[in-house]
Amino acid sequence: MLLSVLLASLLGVVGATPISHPRHEKKTPDYNNLTVAIVRDEPANWPVPVMNKNWTGKVFDLNATVAKGVSLIEQAANNGANLVVFPELWFPGYPKGMADNKTMAPWLESYINNSLTKDSPQWNALVNAAVDNQVYVVPAFSHLENGALYLAQALISPDGTSVVRHKLRPSGGERGIWSDGTPDELKVFATPYGRWGILECWEHFHPAMTFNVQAQAETLHIASWPYTPDEADKSAAYWESLEVNLAAARLYAVNAEAPLVFASVGNVRFLDNQGLDLAVVPASTPSTETPLLYHSFNTTGLAKTIPYTTNGEQSWGVLREMVAGFPAYIPKVLGTFVGRRTFPAVGLIAASKAASISEER
Ligand SMILES: *[C@@H]1O[C@H](CO)[C@@H](O)[C@H](O)[C@H]1NC(C)=O
Ligand SMILES: *[C@@H]1O[C@H](CO)[C@@H](O)[C@H](O)[C@H]1NC(C)=O
Ligand SMILES: *[C@@H]1O[C@H](CO)[C@@H](O)[C@H](O)[C@H]1NC(C)=O
Ligand SMILES: *[C@@H]1O[C@H](CO)[C@@H](O)[C@H](O)[C@H]1NC(C)=O
Ligand SMILES: *[C@@H]1O[C@H](CO)[C@@H](O)[C@H](O)[C@H]1NC(C)=O
Ligand SMILES: *[C@@H]1O[C@H](CO)[C@@H](O)[C@H](O)[C@H]1NC(C)=O
Repeated sequence: MLLSVLLASLLGVVGATPISHPRHEKKTPDYNNLTVAIVRDEPANWPVPVMNKNWTGKVFDLNATVAKGVSLIEQAANNGANLVVFPELWFPGYPKGMADNKTMAPWLESYINNSLTKDSPQWNALVNAAVDNQVYVVPAFSHLENGALYLAQALISPDGTSVVRHKLRPSGGERGIWSDGTPDELKVFATPYGRWGILECWEHFHPAMTFNVQAQAETLHIASWPYTPDEADKSAAYWESLEVNLAAARLYAVNAEAPLVFASVGNVRFLDNQGLDLAVVPASTPSTETPLLYHSFNTTGLAKTIPYTTNGEQSWGVLREMVAGFPAYIPKVLGTFVGRRTFPAVGLIAASKAASISEER
């Protein structure tokens, strides 16, 4: 049956295939079996293949990307998915090669215009897709809220409720475009399939972001990267390489003792709770051939997981030990790095315009 659906979708005749659970019809889910779909297809108008960063002639298009995202959610649900996970900033597209406020200056205004606002028609389209298809959706998007941009992820439930979180500290040049999130957004969500933690990209490298999530007893970790090339891709900088990012993902899974969903455009995979591969699609496989990667998990009993442990490497006791053991000779000063940074997106446009005018002079 599944094979015939897959064949039919390859042939583009999925509508003609009898599907045992048509969408829109609410069925009682089997909470002992969680099927996750990773979106590895690219946003609308995004340069391909993965390491192509030539934006000449490309325009960010939130509407077209939302339409594409909704269609991928439908396709995933028709193939049995209960959870659909998107790569980082998929809406309206990670500005690869220009994710800093200088390089991106000519694109900033269009990017802000194409960032997603909660409760907008585009947001509602994603919520409706989750409800209509009775799936959980984890979109990752540039969130425009109160005039500032955030690197956001959300958990949208099949009942239409949702929670949004923001990357605590955007990485590198990103921090000159997107504002900081807050530590209380480091949450793990209880679902009938178990406890899901959500982080993105380089958050996985930093104990300031990993520790408090791992302390909350995840049974599945949902991780979104923007794009990932294959191993030994010579065009990749260390920070965008598969080797470095996958190392963080494997370490995360081991520390959390939870399987991990490695969502990205390009090289994607599922890891088990020992950090080893369960299923992989390389970046060399075109997204047109394999837009989604699926894996099913036996989630029997996981909904009853106790939400924390008072013993183990991610516990209050260990945190106290770290603070107490912090080298005495290092001055106890807060520094400016940690302080929350938020800035209005319109100010960013004005600053980039002023900078380009002064450069012209
Ligand atoms: C980028 O794409 C444009 C339009 O397709 C092309 O004219 C240009 O040569 C490309 N630039 C590079 C560096 O490849
Ligand atoms: C779990 O669900 C998937 C997708 O519907 C299905 O292919 C698979 O056979 C199921 N596994 C079990 C053990 O029921
Ligand atoms: C952004 O949106 C504003 C308001 O709708 C519009 O005036 C402006 O031209 C847009 N800018 C770009 C670059 O699309
Ligand atoms: C995008 O879609 C919304 C409604 O969903 C519409 O109001 C808006 O005009 C569209 N924007 C563009 C640029 O087409
Ligand atoms: C641009 O980004 C840099 C850091 O990458 C930051 O120091 C600067 O304040 C940003 N510019 C504006 C106008 O926010
Ligand atoms: C799922 O796991 C439970 C508990 O470990 C086990 O009893 C059950 O047989 C497993 N189901 C399948 C289909 O493997």
